[in-house]
Amino acid sequence: MQAIEIAEFGDPEVLQPVERKTPRPGPGEVLIRVRAAGINRPDLLQRKGLYAAPPGASDIPGLEVAGIIEKLGAGVSGLETGNAVCALVAGGGYAEYCVAPQETVLPKPEPLSFEAAAGLPETYFTVWSNVFDRARFEPGETLLVHGGSSGIGSTAILLVKAMGGRVIVTAGTPEKCAFCLELGADAAINYKDQDFVAETLAHTEGKGADVVLDMVAGPYIERDIACLAEDGRLVIIAFLGGARAELNLGPVMIKRLTITGSTLRARPNAFKGQIAGRLKKHIWPLLAAGRCRPPVDSVFGLAEAAKAHARMEQGDHMGKIILKV
Ligand SMILES: NC(=O)c1ccc[n+]([C@@H]2O[C@H](COP(=O)([O-])OP(=O)(O)OC[C@H]3O[C@@H](n4cnc5c(N)ncnc54)[C@H](OP(=O)(O)O)[C@@H]3O)[C@@H](O)[C@H]2O)c1
Repeated sequence: MQAIEIAEFGDPEVLQPVERKTPRPGPGEVLIRVRAAGINRPDLLQRKGLYAAPPGASDIPGLEVAGIIEKLGAGVSGLETGNAVCALVAGGGYAEYCVAPQETVLPKPEPLSFEAAAGLPETYFTVWSNVFDRARFEPGETLLVHGGSSGIGSTAILLVKAMGGRVIVTAGTPEKCAFCLELGADAAINYKDQDFVAETLAHTEGKGADVVLDMVAGPYIERDIACLAEDGRLVIIAFLGGARAELNLGPVMIKRLTITGSTLRARPNAFKGQIAGRLKKHIWPLLAAGRCRPPVDSVFGLAEAAKAHARMEQGDHMGKIILKV
């Protein structure tokens, strides 16, 4: 099969088309004929040698795919060959065939193309797990998410609105802010022109956000804490602004805050399966009814993976970048 491998760690050009043996599904796994694969920022880190695949995962990059089930491994139940699906995988997505654990396979929502469906799993699993499970977000509450136009940010807007919450986003350009408002955000703060702490408080009548989903960290942490309401929750999912912060912990006690975070990729399949179950119950019916439309920024051919990474690295994209296989 055709696949993309990381020939050596470095710039996007190290992503090279190669011939690889088609993988075989093990017990509890399915083989998917990939029609499209999503690009995620963790793939860029892996390409640079900063985020190793977990033990047992394919060295081929790619954390999410959509396609048709070609073969079932032993003991798989509830899935059939020929099913159109999308799946979260721990690696191996940038290829014509990819093996996925049955727990993380979800039906492709009928109205979505394979390209749109391929962009669902990684950010939908991540946002659900962090915002609704870890941070216990409730209907009627307010989420502040940084990078509102990113894969994660745009997913947070769609999921929180679908679950009856309010969303405030930060983004770095007027175009990105307009994109977030169009997706359903209640307020968009251009952090380059406006102070996001003052704006968040202004948009919440001085109360603050109930949950902050942060992919920037570093100097943002103390300001995130200032944005939080009493009993607020801060969830850290990346360190685009740095992994270290110096902060005054006083407000953590005074406002009874919770600070948490997580990474998804290395978690057990059983854990990912629980998230899949919640997404299937709460979000998949909305996708199937066309009431939740994930935004696709751009689609590249499999052999153009380097161009797709360069687009994400440049940072102008809004929504998901996809490889068509
Ligand atoms: N913990 C987990 O399990 C998990 C899972 C998936 C993804 N993630 C992380 O979540 C983050 C978002 O992923 P994604 O796939 O949605 O990526 P993406 O679409 O490229 O989004 C990154 C966003 O971050 C903003 N940003 C702020 N500071 C930045 C900086 N210093 N450098 C680059 N971007 C910056 C950018 O928006 P502005 O231009 O508006 O600033 C951009 O929209 C990534 O860091 C990824 O590693 C974590």
